[in-house]
Amino acid sequence: MVVAYDRERAIGKSGGLLWERGEMHGDITHFKELTTGSAVIMGRKTLDSIGFALPNRQNIVITRGNNIEIPGIQTAHSLDEAYSMAGGVDESFIMGGGEIYNQVINNVEKIYATEVDAVIQGADTFFPKLDNSWQKTGEQQFSIDNDNIYPYSFVTYEKR
Ligand SMILES: NC(=O)c1ccc[n+]([C@@H]2O[C@H](COP(=O)([O-])OP(=O)(O)OC[C@H]3O[C@@H](n4cnc5c(N)ncnc54)[C@H](OP(=O)(O)O)[C@@H]3O)[C@@H](O)[C@H]2O)c1
Repeated sequence: MVVAYDRERAIGKSGGLLWERGEMHGDITHFKELTTGSAVIMGRKTLDSIGFALPNRQNIVITRGNNIEIPGIQTAHSLDEAYSMAGGVDESFIMGGGEIYNQVINNVEKIYATEVDAVIQGADTFFPKLDNSWQKTGEQQFSIDNDNIYPYSFVTYEKR
């Protein structure tokens, strides 16, 4: 899984991210580096917030509705179907949103989290709490700079 959350594990508000485009450049760059060349699996509402297929990745979107007619998007109607569609890539990333994270949290091996050191008001979508079957296996911290309006860390968690 790949996710960015704040100190209260918030991931989204009003259908979008917690920060405006360009406010947390470090997170976006990290996301791009991690996922390029791989499959990304997302819920339909997350696709709505992006609006197009992410370039240089296999984009799989899960919906209970009709097939999605956006170039570069493959539609799956269940998580299992999404997993079986991800082919010819080394790694598949579950990239949200909240509904999808909640359904897969017990079936993934690794979490790449950007932990943003802020509490952002108005959030309505959250990342699940990790139980003690997870351990932190890496952490890199960054300060506020011209490209990032909050301090943040890249943290990895893996199943014990
Ligand atoms: N900070 C981050 O890292 C991050 C990452 C991703 C998203 N987000 C934010 O999270 C929010 C969106 O999350 P969300 O929880 O509202 O929605 P979501 O998880 O992106 O999508 C939910 C939709 O996925 C489909 N779905 C879910 N489970 C399914 C299943 N088992 N089988 C088939 N279809 C299934 C349904 O689509 P249909 O209604 O079409 O059937 C459902 O309405 C936005 O604010 C977004 O910006 C944040």
